[in-house]
Amino acid sequence: MDRRTFLGASAALAATLALAHPVTAAQDAAKARTKPLPPPDKTGGKPLMECLNSRRSTHMPGKKELTEQQLSNVLWAACGISSTSGKRTVPTARNRQRIAVYVALGDGVWLYKPAEHALELALAGDHRGDFDGSACVLLYAVPRKDPFGYAHVGSMYQNVGLYCASEGLANCVKYQRHDALAGKLPLPEDWEVVMLHCIAG
Ligand SMILES: Cc1cc2nc3c(=O)[nH]c(=O)nc-3n(C[C@H](O)[C@H](O)[C@H](O)COP(=O)(O)O)c2cc1C
Repeated sequence: MDRRTFLGASAALAATLALAHPVTAAQDAAKARTKPLPPPDKTGGKPLMECLNSRRSTHMPGKKELTEQQLSNVLWAACGISSTSGKRTVPTARNRQRIAVYVALGDGVWLYKPAEHALELALAGDHRGDFDGSACVLLYAVPRKDPFGYAHVGSMYQNVGLYCASEGLANCVKYQRHDALAGKLPLPEDWEVVMLHCIAG
C-alpha cells in the first residue's frame, strides 16, 4: 500500500470509528483539548523575606522544562483560587477578576482555568519560538480598556517571580514580543496580552 492509500484508508477508518462511537470520539476530542494539573502545593517554599531578597531576572531563562508540579504552582501563584469564596492569589479591583493567563508550552498555547485548575488548549503547536524560546512562557491578558489591567498583571508577575525565587526557577518578565500571537490567539473580545513571563527550570 503506498503512503497516500494508507493515509486515505486510515482517515476512513478513523471516521468510521468516530461514527460508531460518537460519545467516545467526542470525549477523546475534549480530553485532547484539556489538560488537568496536579493540585498546587500550598505548603513549604522558602521564607518570604528570602524570596524577596533573591528574586531576580534571568534575561534568557533557557529551555529546561518545568515539572508538572512546578507548572501547577506557577499558574496557581499567578491567579489561582485560594479561598472557598473563589477569591484569587492576586487582588483585583472590586474582585471582578478580569485577568487571564495563557501558557505557551511545547504542545500548544493553553488557557489556565482557575476553577478547574486545568489547562484548555487555545492554540495548537509550539509557539515558544515566537517569544524568546523559553521552556514556559506565560502570557498575561487583560481587557484593553481596564484602567487596572497593568496593576493586575504586575500582581500576577510578582507572585510568580516570588514563587520562582523560592523554587530556583530562572525567569524574566518581558514586554518584548508580547503581541506575537495577536490575531491568532483566541482572546475574549477587546482583551490583549500585555506582558510575558518567560520561565525555565
Ligand atoms: C514591566 C517589565 C517589562 C520588562 N521587559 C523586559 C523585556 O522585554 N526584556 C528583558 O530582557 N527584560 C525585561 N524586563 C526585566 C527587567 O529588565 C528587569 O526586571 C530589570 O533589569 C531589573 O532586574 P531584576 O528583575 O533582576 O531586579 C522587564 C521587567 C518589567 C517589570
